[in-house]
Amino acid sequence: MCGGEPCDAVARGLFHFFDRSPDGIAGNGRSCGDCHMVTDRFQLSPAKVEGRFQFLEWLRQFDPEADDPLFRAIDADDFRTNGEEASDWSNLRQNGLVRISFPLPPTIKLVDPVTNAPSSETFVDVWRAVPTVNDVKLSGPDGQNPWFRDPNRSGGYQLDARVATLQEQGLGAILNHAQAPHAPTQQFLDDLHSFQRVLFTNQRVRALADAIDAGTTPLPDPDPPLNALEQQGKVVFVRACAHCHGGPGQSTPQAPVIRYHDVSALCPRPVDTVSPPRFAFAPCPPRLARNARMYELTLTNGATVRRASDDPGRALLTGFVSPQQAQDDWNKLDMPALRGISKTAPYFHNNSEATLEAVVFHYIQLFKRAETIVLPPGAPLPPFASTNGIHFDRIPKPEEVPALLAYLRKL
Ligand code: HEC
Ligand code: HEC
Repeated sequence: MCGGEPCDAVARGLFHFFDRSPDGIAGNGRSCGDCHMVTDRFQLSPAKVEGRFQFLEWLRQFDPEADDPLFRAIDADDFRTNGEEASDWSNLRQNGLVRISFPLPPTIKLVDPVTNAPSSETFVDVWRAVPTVNDVKLSGPDGQNPWFRDPNRSGGYQLDARVATLQEQGLGAILNHAQAPHAPTQQFLDDLHSFQRVLFTNQRVRALADAIDAGTTPLPDPDPPLNALEQQGKVVFVRACAHCHGGPGQSTPQAPVIRYHDVSALCPRPVDTVSPPRFAFAPCPPRLARNARMYELTLTNGATVRRASDDPGRALLTGFVSPQQAQDDWNKLDMPALRGISKTAPYFHNNSEATLEAVVFHYIQLFKRAETIVLPPGAPLPPFASTNGIHFDRIPKPEEVPALLAYLRKL
């Protein structure tokens, strides 16, 4: 066995992952590795996309037939209007984002930007970052802390946890991203699963996964040796971040913190109506703001409201939108793992924050916003905002930020 998986399956899975004609099926020429790039920590940054685009343009001076299957019409901005002739790669090149389509649930309609009336569209395109496939053995479903509604109440794969297994994930990728005409064999999908389950950010995370398999207690700490500053940063992380990014995969929220969250990373972002503002998120730049759509929602109480978002998250799976927005599915996403995070910028589902400094600034605004929620007298603070339900103590203090950043860079 190799890391808990049959060695021959891992070897075949590695081959399949980089095979542009998977299982002999002629799709659009894409392999998994075209988006989950081995030279980019198995994810895809806008910088790498732009590098490939420039290289392709250069090659085409000599060979007009030169090709890079990353640039396929389905992931062009103008695909819905120009079909196979589409050629505007702005979202890929500027933002590193890929198109994901969802059928609209009956409670959710798009608003036509021209007429400002609900449109007859039956599906919506959202633009999502390509997450790393490192550590997926630890960051998938964990059986803990279930959400209120299906699918995958205890976590899953994809940014919205809509997929339960790596086989299901691989199948979806081959049919959608690689546009294969039919499904590969079950063994092919099992091999891809085995290969991805031995990919880890580093040897210490691998040792943690091995110890979990072996039932070892206590589990080894996957952090490298930390200096004094990094150790202080870890204390801040445990207080301010780990209640959501918890467990071995840093993807298990710790009850009473609920499973899926909206951390205001979407575009457009909340703006405080009070002056001077009590919180101020960095606004989304136009290249991202343009991906937002206005939706008209039928809430569980029958009321109709409009909300704008670049990615309604799990609401697109369930249609469950309620007046209690904190516990409905609107904008809710799964907790991503954070190991190796210093090397996978930019951040969030829409690649909207360029640096870890910007991420920490964002969370400080999120905590400040939580502080503005008016609670009934005596009611406990939201669990993600308070250690003891009485004090609002999760905002990293300004002097703690350098320590937190130093620790995040060690993950
Ligand atoms: C066109 C680019 C593209 C290709 C090709 C592609 N992926 Fe992905 N992958 C993505 C995007 C984008 C997401 C996030 C999608 C979402 O959340 O809806 C993703 C998500 C994933 C995830 C979920 C990771 C997590 O932590 O939840 C896994 C696993 C994965 N892909 C594996 C694969 C495999 C295996 C293949 C090849 C069969 C593949 N991908 C091909 C773009 C791609
Ligand atoms: C309320 C729960 C919650 C808390 C608290 C929280 N996070 Fe997150 N985090 C999330 C969710 C949900 C996402 C996915 C959001 C998205 O992609 O839009 C996320 C995404 C991230 C990402 C982006 C990962 C990537 O690969 O793009 C980073 C980095 C991150 N969080 C760091 C932190 C840090 C540092 C803290 C503490 C200061 C923190 N988080 C606190 C829920 C939380």
